[in-house]
Amino acid sequence: MDIAIFGTGIVGRTLAEKLVAQHHNVTIGTRSPEETLARLDADSMGNGPFCDWHVQHTNVSLATFAEAAAVSEAIVLATNGGGAVASLEAAGAENLGTKILLDLTNPLDFSQGMPPTLSVVNTDSLGEMLQRAFPLVRVVKTLNTVSTQVMVHPEAVAGGRHNVFLSGNDSDAKKSVGQYLQSWFGWTSESIIDLGDITTARGTEMYFAFWVRTFLASGNPLFNISIVR
Ligand SMILES: NC(=O)c1ccc[n+]([C@@H]2O[C@H](COP(=O)([O-])OP(=O)(O)OC[C@H]3O[C@@H](n4cnc5c(N)ncnc54)[C@H](OP(=O)(O)O)[C@@H]3O)[C@@H](O)[C@H]2O)c1
Repeated sequence: MDIAIFGTGIVGRTLAEKLVAQHHNVTIGTRSPEETLARLDADSMGNGPFCDWHVQHTNVSLATFAEAAAVSEAIVLATNGGGAVASLEAAGAENLGTKILLDLTNPLDFSQGMPPTLSVVNTDSLGEMLQRAFPLVRVVKTLNTVSTQVMVHPEAVAGGRHNVFLSGNDSDAKKSVGQYLQSWFGWTSESIIDLGDITTARGTEMYFAFWVRTFLASGNPLFNISIVR
């Protein structure tokens, strides 16, 4: 499958590695491939420059957001929250069409330091903002409640017996994303909970406030929640 991943950070890189290992064609989208490859500094989380990663992963293409969207069947959105809408604007509605967009973003605001606050809460969400800006794109919010290691290795936590969520307006798109989570990343069908329409992204995005405090208390991002009844 031809898959675009918007985002050159640790999430984009981790997912790309997992997907090319399964022989998918992966194009990572960025604002400027030249500038991204020319950067030599680590990011604020200590991840090395993209160019160092890319020389080890030459089977992953790097392109502008528009070029990546144009050649893909589905798009994974893994930019920072502040750049999410802008990345889709740069991709262009004509290249996005009615494609499925797996929205992994959280609307994090680091302007007041750590832990970050959320730039949109309660009565709106980043997922809804994306869906409003691009009504034809089939936005499905998912995987934003787990660290990138857990996204692609759910079995690393409690043998995979924990949950991941889907929020989106298009039932068929959510079914497809549920299948992607299973075949691409190894989630089980029992672990996937469809929360409802895209407004339910408010819940999973605001969960970040709890996620980050749990992480800061333990220093370990390998955890998740399990819904038990
Ligand atoms: N890290 C995790 O474990 C984790 C877990 C769950 C969810 N998330 C979410 O996943 C997303 C990606 O996280 P990350 O840590 O991998 O990367 P990140 O550092 O949050 O984002 C890097 C990406 O954002 C793009 N970007 C920044 N400003 C932009 C702008 N104004 N317009 C367009 N694009 C812009 C960058 O583009 P360039 O390539 O052009 O520089 C880069 O590709 C975030 O929304 C995060 O909240 C992360």
